Amino acid sequence: MLTIGVIGAGQIGSAIAKVLAETGKYKIIASRRKIEKVRDLEKLGVKLTRMNREVAKESDVIFISVKPYKVPEILNEVSDLLRNKLLISVAAAISISKLQKLAPEAKIVRAMPNIALKVKTGFIAYSRGPKITEEDINLVRELFSEMGYCMEVDESLMDAVTALSGSGPAYVAIMIEAMAHAGLKVGLPRDLAYISSAYTIYGTAKMILDTELHPAMIKEMVLTPGGTTIEGIFYLEEGGIRTAMMKAVEAATRRAREIAEKLNQS
Ligand SMILES: NC(=O)c1ccc[n+]([C@@H]2O[C@H](COP(=O)([O-])OP(=O)(O)OC[C@H]3O[C@@H](n4cnc5c(N)ncnc54)[C@H](OP(=O)(O)O)[C@@H]3O)[C@@H](O)[C@H]2O)c1
Repeated sequence: MLTIGVIGAGQIGSAIAKVLAETGKYKIIASRRKIEKVRDLEKLGVKLTRMNREVAKESDVIFISVKPYKVPEILNEVSDLLRNKLLISVAAAISISKLQKLAPEAKIVRAMPNIALKVKTGFIAYSRGPKITEEDINLVRELFSEMGYCMEVDESLMDAVTALSGSGPAYVAIMIEAMAHAGLKVGLPRDLAYISSAYTIYGTAKMILDTELHPAMIKEMVLTPGGTTIEGIFYLEEGGIRTAMMKAVEAATRRAREIAEKLNQS
């Protein structure tokens, strides 16, 4: 049985540990300093430790999921234990070449998941480092497929991916909240407002993915001339919903690049 390690069992790291532990296919070991905060992982068979070196030593594959600015410190601590091991960084902004400098003997994959992997519906983009073989990629895809949908991308796209699908759950959560508030405004009970808003986004996304129809086609299916939907769309367009989203993702991409430039220096 493969042993999968997670260094930095926070939001994303503990979700990765949980999803992989639930499959029953892997041994999981995870670290952070305050392990008492993730004790529930032990019920799934995850071994918890405060020692990152223990994770690096015992694991065949190591996820690193600490905050980006902590990655150099952690890799300095464990890099001698990573010889020929697969190291998957989910840290935003840290480049493959920086990771490879910090862990010269590891085989590196850089990935950008999103928090929806907690419910096995994440979107995970990944880029391979120079030492990665096809066999490694098959394993990476096997692991990510447990967490949602994965796609290989050129590393040059990672800042934009970070801004779109990495940050995306926050944008969509705001849209759901906005729709639910709209429901409250027109007098819907609270639970009806939130559940109907969330399900509407979930169902529309599922329809686009399952049917491969362009979003515009779905929109046209709902539109009746002179009906309610076009009345609503008129005000969404007037409010600039599309340009607001484009500006948001453009600004987030710029920010991701600024952070990357700072963190990848030297
Ligand atoms: N959150 C997201 O939606 C998301 C999406 C995509 C990518 N990411 C990336 O995932 C990484 C983690 O983000 P996050 O949101 O999960 O942050 P987080 O919740 O703060 O998790 C980071 C964890 O690292 C642990 N940590 C700090 N110092 C450590 C050390 N010396 N040794 C071991 N563990 C240590 C912290 O726990 P202790 O303080 O207990 O040690 C903390 O739980 C970031 O690089 C981020 O760019 C996040």
